[in-house]
Amino acid sequence: MNKVQQKISLALSLCLVAFIVACGGGEPPKTDPNAPPPQSMVKEDVPDGKAIYTKTCQACHQENGQGVPKAFPPLANADVLNSNVEGAIDGVIHGRKGELIVNGEKYNTEMAPLGGTLNDAEIAAVLTYVYSQWGNNGSVITPEMVAARRTKK
Ligand code: HEC
Repeated sequence: MNKVQQKISLALSLCLVAFIVACGGGEPPKTDPNAPPPQSMVKEDVPDGKAIYTKTCQACHQENGQGVPKAFPPLANADVLNSNVEGAIDGVIHGRKGELIVNGEKYNTEMAPLGGTLNDAEIAAVLTYVYSQWGNNGSVITPEMVAARRTKK
């Protein structure tokens, strides 16, 4: 070996040592019991529309959205719901009352405003759930659409 070769060889062995040290020398990684769960296990922060329906709407509109004759209009395959997304959002936020004809049946009762109980994401989720069920038209309601109706009546 000449001088240059010696230097190169020394440099290479130093690199190798540094590499091994950097790899932690085979010590097993410690698991911290207080560490947050891996990202894949964290539930996404989107509210569960079905759960909100069960808790907030089902008492009146019934489990399958069929409503109660003369008292609570149906949400299943409902012409009013399917023809007017903004009206549906407004009704949940601000409540609704007065004469209303749903699928040919007349109702004249009152739905209390739920805009104080449910936030924009929750109203979006519950309405998207309702639109996805029982023969409805599959409209998707976003929290932004709800926010835009909050200021309107
Ligand atoms: C306390 C009973 C009650 C609750 C709870 C309730 N509603 Fe209603 N809802 C009514 C009544 C009564 C009407 C009809 C009001 C009228 O006559 O103008 C109505 C009307 C509607 C309508 C328009 C008519 C139709 O059938 O398409 C929609 C849409 C609606 N409700 C959705 C909801 C959703 C979604 C929830 C839950 C977030 C909910 N309602 C909770 C009683 C209720």
